This record gives sequence, C-alpha cells and structure tokens, in this order.
Amino acid sequence: MEQMIKTRFTERFGIPHPVMLAPMDKVAGGRLAAAVSHAGGLGLIGGGYGDAAWLERAFGEIGNAAVGVGFITWSLLRKPELIAQTLVRQPAAFMVSFGDGEEAVAAARDAGVPTIWQIQRLSQAEQALAAEVDVIVVQGQEAGGHGMDRGLTALLPAVRDLAGPEQIILAAGGLADGRGLAASLMLGADGVMLGTRFWASAEAEGSEAAKAALLRATGDGTLRSKVFDIARNAAWPEQFTGRTVANAFARQWQDDLEGLRRNAESERTRYDAAHPDDYETRVLIAGEALDLIDKIESAETIVTDVVREAAGLLRNAGDVLVTA
Ligand SMILES: Cc1cc2nc3c(=O)[nH]c(=O)nc-3n(C[C@H](O)[C@H](O)[C@H](O)COP(=O)(O)O)c2cc1C
Repeated sequence: MEQMIKTRFTERFGIPHPVMLAPMDKVAGGRLAAAVSHAGGLGLIGGGYGDAAWLERAFGEIGNAAVGVGFITWSLLRKPELIAQTLVRQPAAFMVSFGDGEEAVAAARDAGVPTIWQIQRLSQAEQALAAEVDVIVVQGQEAGGHGMDRGLTALLPAVRDLAGPEQIILAAGGLADGRGLAASLMLGADGVMLGTRFWASAEAEGSEAAKAALLRATGDGTLRSKVFDIARNAAWPEQFTGRTVANAFARQWQDDLEGLRRNAESERTRYDAAHPDDYETRVLIAGEALDLIDKIESAETIVTDVVREAAGLLRNAGDVLVTA
C-alpha cells in the first residue's frame, strides 16, 4: 500500500495513512475497524458506554487486523473491570473521551498499549498532557455525536501551541475528505479522526435505512442538544451535548428540556416504542460533514480517496505563492 503522507502519527503506529476511525458506539464494530486498519489507517472499535457482550463480538470480527478500542470515559469508570478485560487483548490503541481519563490511561500505559484522549477544550488538553497520553484528539463542535461548543479551527492550533512540537495530535469534527486532512495538517495536526464519513460506509454497523437517511440529511439539518440523552436516560455530564440529525422529536423538545424532563417517563416509552428505523423519533447521530457525503462507500475507498486528495492539495499548495 503506497504511503503518500508521513506524520508523527503514521510513524508511531507503523501505518501508511494518517486516518483514524472514530470509536463510534454501535457503529464502529469489528468489521469496520478491521477494514480501516487493512486500508492503512487505524481502526478503533466503538466500545461506547461499555457493553461486554457487544465488545466480545466486535473483537471476534477483526481477524488478524491490528485495531484499537475507544470508550466513553464517564461510563467506563462505572464499569472499571472492563478496562483490564479490554487491555488483556492488547489492542493497537486505547482511547478515552468525555471525562477524567487518568485512571484508564495509566492502566493502558502499564499494559504497554498506546493511549489516546479526545478533548473539546484547551483545559482538557492540559489534563490529557498531564496524563502523558500518546495521542490527543482535538474535537470541534462540528462533530457528530457528543462534544462541546468550540469550533476546530482555533482550538486545534491552540492545542498544538500548548502541547509543543512533539505531541501527536489528531483533528476531528466536520472532516470528511482530503481538504479536511490537508487543512488539519496545516493547523497543526498529525492526522484526522473521521466519524460521520465512516458511518456512511459499507462496513459500518447499522441498517440500510439509517445509511440512506444519512445521505438525505445535511449539515444545516443537524443540531446539538441534550434531547436524546434525556429520552434515552443516558447520564451525560451537563457540559456535553450531542450532534444529531434534527427530527420531529428533537424539534418538539429542543427549546423545552424542562418539559421533556417533566414528561420523561411517557416520552421514553414513546421513544422506545418507535420503530428502530423511524428517524423522525429515533436518534440519528451525525455531524456537519454530512454536506460532504453523497454515497455509501467501502472503508478502503474512503481512506484512499481522503489521503490521495490531501496529498494532491499539499503538492500543489505552493501554487498560491508569489515567487520573486
Ligand atoms: C454515530 C456516532 C457515534 C459516536 N459515538 C462515539 C462514542 O461512542 N465515543 C466517542 O468517543 N465518540 C463518539 N463519537 C464522536 C467521534 O468520536 C468523533 O469525535 C466525531 O465523529 C468526529 O466528527 P465527525 O463525525 O464530523 O467526523 C460518535 C460519532 C458518531 C457520528
């Protein structure tokens, strides 16, 4: 597999392409993670909230691929036994997002597993640096799924300035193609982590109806809210919201979260009773990158196209320079 771009990230993990799969809960199963790693990126299984049986199945699907795994930190800390159970598998990387990752990162380091911490604020980057993580993922608010309120463009170079030249940093949030990779490298990253683009892949777990709905949706048609956390009874810390495709359920409650909390029992019953593919009620998690996605492709095509396009842009970037 021809390498086109070499960064600290590709060197550290011994892979050709600076593209990582986001550990998307229930979407990034073993098949998708393995496909991204086989394509030359780094595939991460979406350990999500921490479901031991699901994880067992996902790891059972990876064959001989070197894949990592990522968890939602605050939820993982409620099931700490999962940390050791996961690390005995010697994953290619262990990633934490959303909460205090020190304990899990230390355990992974002790097990000789490379560590990754996704952050949304400069203050969280300080916390991750203090924990001496191998990779910091800087997530902008454009991202699909949970996150916070800072855009990527100012946060990413600020994290680079804070972390110094040696720290491995990946960019995430609203990135879907070679332009996103090339721009991220210019802003100080060593590669990108893609979620929404890989959700729209052949190997992603999820129904055909969900993937078709992704193709119909747009970035304008997404919103950040706490509606679905309340509807799904997920105990997310206050500072996080989730970016999803806006639908009738979200529009009804977006500006009346107190009303939703007051009616939580009946609304949860209504939510649970909806058909899993009824995306006017059920959540469809995706980010602003939807504007850049118009077909379902294989993970290999996605990795290769993103890297090839970025390499072309970087090669021609000097065209704008005025030479003497
Ligand atoms: C369907 C979906 C599920 C996600 N689930 C998780 C998760 O379980 N854990 C996590 O750390 N991030 C999760 N994320 C967020 C990603 O880690 C990442 O920050 C995001 O996908 C990057 O932005 P993008 O979607 O624009 O590529 C999820 C994202 C999506 C789209």
